[in-house]
Amino acid sequence: MRILAIESSCDESAVAVLDGQRGLLGHSLWSQVDLHRAYGGVVPELASRDHVQRLLPLVRDTLAQAATEPAQLQGIAYTAGPGLVGALLCGAALARSLAYGWRLPAIGIHHLEGHLLAPLLESPAPEFPHLALLVSGGHTMLIEALGLGDYRLLGETRDDAAGEAFDKSAKLLGLPYPGGPQLAALAGHGRPGACVLPRPMLDRPGFEFSFSGLKTAVALAARAQPLDEQRRADIARGLQDAIVDTLCAKALRALDATGHRQLVVAGGVGANRELRARLGAALAERGGQVFFPRPEFCTDNAAMIAMAGLLRLQAGERSGADLNVRARWPLAELRPPLQ
Ligand code: KG4
Ligand code: ZN
Repeated sequence: MRILAIESSCDESAVAVLDGQRGLLGHSLWSQVDLHRAYGGVVPELASRDHVQRLLPLVRDTLAQAATEPAQLQGIAYTAGPGLVGALLCGAALARSLAYGWRLPAIGIHHLEGHLLAPLLESPAPEFPHLALLVSGGHTMLIEALGLGDYRLLGETRDDAAGEAFDKSAKLLGLPYPGGPQLAALAGHGRPGACVLPRPMLDRPGFEFSFSGLKTAVALAARAQPLDEQRRADIARGLQDAIVDTLCAKALRALDATGHRQLVVAGGVGANRELRARLGAALAERGGQVFFPRPEFCTDNAAMIAMAGLLRLQAGERSGADLNVRARWPLAELRPPLQ
């Protein structure tokens, strides 16, 4: 089976072509980051208008890249939620229209299931059951992935997500939007131990996180003068160390509690080099395995939506012809493929 996939849940327009036998044949992405920079965050209406303009040319380019004619496709997947409702509708409307015109089945995919399945695009790929640490701009979750569509939430953040803590702290340090990756780069110049920030909720049992206090700690640390380049780098290092320590400790605790030996790390913060290095070393030491998507598939992309779509379409699941996208959609509502 070969399918086309469209992702448009936030500020990235992305398209991919995935073949069940030959793997990923093409993928492209248009980032709207320049469009939203002046506002310091994503402006939903501007995002929708840009998706309308970008998606169809991206579909053409990606099909050409994949040397694929519409007649060679057996299905279309699109992100149906959660996300910005206008942005989601752009991708869903295009996907449904193409599916209608080309007489193909279509399937609406949960964006977070896409992130969770992104490591299946790599080799070696993880197997079910496994533990997943999902760390993005909107979510921080520890999940037992028992099978496709069978996800058990062990714990999540009570307030800010890990990516949000990176982004908000970057803003406090005067870094340009979007701040997470910039803060991580600055942290590389920071001195270990020069700025020690709290490890929230580490002393409490369980698998919950809390990152909102960290931005206050960063704001206080940034008040000390002079806030020169070295001090900013030290604070960035302190913040990254606090987040990475907390994520590693809770992920290892969840591995101990569940007995899983495979850990999947997904979502934008999974692109963080320090987190990758630390978890890689910790899992090697305990004889387990950690699986990351390549960094470009940690952040939003259509290849991950294609992977989720392929598995569900292959299992015989199809979505109806209505455009029922969902701005909010708890992961726990997902089920294994419907025949
Ligand atoms: O998964 P994603 O692309 O979008 C959501 O679905 O949220 O994640 C974006 C988040 C942002 O908060 C961004 O700052 C963070 O991932 N991020 C990083 C890095 N690259 C992206 N955080 C830390 N280090 C990075 N290298
Ligand atoms: Zn995402």
